[in-house]
Amino acid sequence: MVLTRDRLAADLRRLGVQAGDLLMIHSSLRSLGFVVGGAATVVDALLDVLGPTGTLVGPSFNFETALDPDFVFDPCNTPSDMGAIADEIRRRAGNQRSRHLTHSLSAIGPHAETIVTAGGPTAWAADDPLGTIFKLGGRFLLLGVTYQTFTACHVLEVAFRPHRRTLDTLRRRLRRPNGSLVAFENTVYLRDVNYPGYDFNRVGQAMEDAGITAVAPVGNAIARLIAAQPLRDFATPRIRRDPDYLLQQGSAVTSLSRGISVTLPGGVLAVVDPEAIYWPARR
Ligand SMILES: CC(C)(COP(=O)(O)OP(=O)(O)OC[C@H]1O[C@@H](n2cnc3c(N)ncnc32)[C@H](O)[C@@H]1OP(=O)(O)O)[C@@H](O)C(=O)NCCC(=O)NCCS
Repeated sequence: MVLTRDRLAADLRRLGVQAGDLLMIHSSLRSLGFVVGGAATVVDALLDVLGPTGTLVGPSFNFETALDPDFVFDPCNTPSDMGAIADEIRRRAGNQRSRHLTHSLSAIGPHAETIVTAGGPTAWAADDPLGTIFKLGGRFLLLGVTYQTFTACHVLEVAFRPHRRTLDTLRRRLRRPNGSLVAFENTVYLRDVNYPGYDFNRVGQAMEDAGITAVAPVGNAIARLIAAQPLRDFATPRIRRDPDYLLQQGSAVTSLSRGISVTLPGGVLAVVDPEAIYWPARR
C-alpha cells in the first residue's frame, strides 16, 4: 500500500474529519502502510482537511526523558515520544506548546494559543489544555492505535475517580526562549500500588457498539473519530454507576471488534491488514 497526501486526505474526510474541526490525534505511522514523505505527508494531509479554520493538536509527551532529575524541558526542542506524527506536529507548532514536564500538547491553528496557554499544574484537569479541548467541543482521532492511547480518558478518570492515583509534584527546570533556565514544577498523577491499569478500550468499544464513534480505514490503519462531549456524556453515568468503569477488570483489556490489533514491542496497532504494516526491518 502506497499512500499519498491526497489519498490520506480523502480517507480522513471519508472518516468524518471536517474543515474547521479542532482535532487531537494519537497515531502510529507504520500502521498506515508506506506513506510517501512519511510523517510530514500525514500532517500535511491532516492540515489540508482541517483547513485554515481548523486546529490540529498532538501529544508532545515525554514521560521517559522527564524521569531524569537533570531533565530540562525545552518547549521548542524537547521531542515528543508519542510517535513520528506527533513529533512532526510538535516541530511545526514551534512554541505553540503547553508547559508541562511530561504531558505537553502542541497545537497548530486558531485554537492553538487558547489550548497551550490553558492551565493549572496538572495535565488532566478540566482547565488544562486537554480539558480545554473538551470545552471547545473538539474531537479525537485514533489513527492506527487503540483506545489505550486515548489520553482524554484520563481527564474523565481523574475527574470522577481520582482515588486510585496520587498527585505528586515533579520538579525539574524549564528553558526559556532566551535560553536561561528556571526551576519548574508540575503535579503529575502517579498510580497507586493497587492500581489495576486502565481499560479505555472498554468505553471505546461500548461507544462503537452504540454507533456514536466513526470507525473507518485510513490507508491500512483503522481510524476512530470520537467527539469530546459525547464521550463525556456517555462515560459519566457509567462511571457514576461503576466507579471503576475505566479501569482494567481482569487480566486483559477489552478487545476491539473493528480491525486487527497487533501487539508490537512499542505498543498496540489497530490495522486492516497486519501484512500491510510498513516495517522496514522486514524488507
Ligand atoms: C508507540 C507508537 C508511536 C508506535 O507506532 P509506530 O508506527 O511504530 O511508530 P511511529 O508512529 O513513531 O512511526 C515510526 C515508524 O514508522 C515507520 N515508517 C518510517 N517511514 C515510513 C513511511 N514513509 N511510511 C510509513 N511508515 C513509515 C517505521 O517503521 C518507523 O519506525 P522505525 O523508525 O523504528 O523504523 C504507537 O504504537 C502509539 O502508541 N501511538 C500513540 C502514542 C500516544 O499518543 N500515546 C498517548 C499516551 S499513552
